[in-house]
Amino acid sequence: TMTDHLRRLETLFTLTPQRMRMITQSFRETLENGLEKVDQVVPMIPTFVFGWPSGQEQGDYLAIDLGGTNLRVCLVHLQGKGKFEVTQSKYRLSEEQKQDEGQKLFDFCAESLKTFIDSNSGEDGILHLEPGEKLPLGFTFSYPCKQNSIDHGILIRWTKGFGAPNTEGENVAEMFQKSLDKFELPVTLTALINDTTGTLIASHYVNPHTRIACIFGTGCNAAYMEHVKDIPKIKDLGIDGGMDMVINCEWGAFDSFEHEHLPRSKYDISIDESSNKPGEQAFEKLISGRYLGEILRLVICELIDDGILFLGQNTYKVEVTNALDTALLSLMESDPTEELLMIIGIFSHFFALETTLAERQFLRAIARLIGRRAARLSACGIGAIVGKMGYLENGCAVGCDGSLYNKYPGFAGRIQEGLVDIFGEKARNIYTHHAEDGSGVGSAIIAAMTKARKDAGI
Ligand code: BG6
Ligand code: GLC
Repeated sequence: TMTDHLRRLETLFTLTPQRMRMITQSFRETLENGLEKVDQVVPMIPTFVFGWPSGQEQGDYLAIDLGGTNLRVCLVHLQGKGKFEVTQSKYRLSEEQKQDEGQKLFDFCAESLKTFIDSNSGEDGILHLEPGEKLPLGFTFSYPCKQNSIDHGILIRWTKGFGAPNTEGENVAEMFQKSLDKFELPVTLTALINDTTGTLIASHYVNPHTRIACIFGTGCNAAYMEHVKDIPKIKDLGIDGGMDMVINCEWGAFDSFEHEHLPRSKYDISIDESSNKPGEQAFEKLISGRYLGEILRLVICELIDDGILFLGQNTYKVEVTNALDTALLSLMESDPTEELLMIIGIFSHFFALETTLAERQFLRAIARLIGRRAARLSACGIGAIVGKMGYLENGCAVGCDGSLYNKYPGFAGRIQEGLVDIFGEKARNIYTHHAEDGSGVGSAIIAAMTKARKDAGI
């Protein structure tokens, strides 16, 4: 019966506080290991972004953001005192573009940038460039890149379903520069940054209590500020140990390949095995928006096969891979009506299925289990950084962004509950908040900080 299945699924998807503390502990060990040795699964990438912004950074900067879903181009006007203005355009990326030749992808980025610059220049435009003048450009490229300076990055591996050939193992900053040259754009590529790095810096610009930043969107990752002296793997670079540097954790890779620590269900395993990167991004696959809808869909399909759901109906539409978007999970969870009218609408509109009230309540209960597990696992990641850095005593803010954090009902609250389950009442000192636009504002501030360092001859 449905009740039996619900009980089974509850056991499968529920994380006890004790289990969470164990995951947090091994997560912390993994982070420390990544700081100590090069080329670890969770790579703990030094970003060459040194210290916090002063809040006084000013000027005009261009930013381009190649995320998981959109390409975004922004002109950011930093006004100092934690204030800014942003003008932006979005261009949708097609699934084909994500798998097409890497250089073509960067050409598309450069071409979109050209369209943006052209349409904002001229008499009425907001861009007024003198002949020969070049604007500093920050490139937010939200995939794991090994950096040896701020304007360099070797793509370690694609994540979030991207697969463009001839890009992994290459310096993507150089590839993008080639595309910029091709379109003869009046820009200088100043910084290559991860979205979490940008989010950390942008959040701190407006809320100096921020110590950690997370993205919960198509992918899932975090960045935080580390003491250079506590990053043993870079000690040969001779960087002053008294300085601080942002670390892009790439924590989505936690527990990849070995699968020793995380509670993976058969649904998770099936998603992993049919993904373009089996074994990889094990943590991300349990949490991020790219996968949650598919987890629910696989549960539904199993229950159809077992004769529990949608008896006597034609279910072919829901049996298509990725047919159930994570956005629908958010809607299902937020349905305020007793009859669950939203869920009626979703299933009839998208899948041509009629639902009984009992089925709708059951479906919503499963959505909750999946959403709750994602948030509680996220708390383990945050807990690992908080524990490592000793932030529990004095507390800190965690800037968060991405579609899941912003749109999934109760996600933030569940993270908070999870932190309390890990650390007890002290965890109330740690709070998440919606972050400032990391890839626009963050990249502009980083470009400004980089320029200031260069001007000072550092
Ligand atoms: C945006 C941030 O709001 O969220 C980006 O500005 C980030 O920096 C993005 O990459 C991630 O969310 P999603 O849902 O688009 O993957
Ligand atoms: C993936 C990427 C990472 C990014 C995250 C959020 O995990 O590997 O670089 O920060 O998605 O967009």
